[in-house]
Amino acid sequence: MGNQNIRDEVNKILSSSTDTTVTVLSSLLLVQDEIGYIPNEAVEEIGSFLKTSINEVWGVATFYTNFRFTPPCANVLEVCWGPTCHLKGAPDLISGVLKQLNLEEEGDSQDKGISVRYNTCLGACQQAPVISVNHALRGNVKAFEISNIIDFVADSNS
Ligand code: FES
Repeated sequence: MGNQNIRDEVNKILSSSTDTTVTVLSSLLLVQDEIGYIPNEAVEEIGSFLKTSINEVWGVATFYTNFRFTPPCANVLEVCWGPTCHLKGAPDLISGVLKQLNLEEEGDSQDKGISVRYNTCLGACQQAPVISVNHALRGNVKAFEISNIIDFVADSNS
């Protein structure tokens, strides 16, 4: 996406927000949800949209560890580690995912083209433990299924 395209996209996202209160944080969350990361242009556009300084936007963006500033891999795998999923086996899913992708913690497995993120609640606690593969939820996931799921996602890249 070119610079101007990113700016246009960010402005579209910000203007279409239906939240009654739009803050720097809510704007950053919206942009990351839609684009997958926070490009530099988004920081500038959020600043001008909310009539606040770029430093202020950067301050909020860098305070929270869940924002990323580079594009994610082609696939995004989110593992819920919220309380319900934790009780229902999320720790085993997380260790399986990290092991299979050779990661120490959430991050990008460039060779497999998969970005791993932890999520505090994917909104489907009744089906815990839950993961999401490219925004599609999968519930009642068993640790032994992780390997197949990752192979399937990685194969879809090739
Ligand atoms: S705690 Fe995992 S989906 Fe809600």
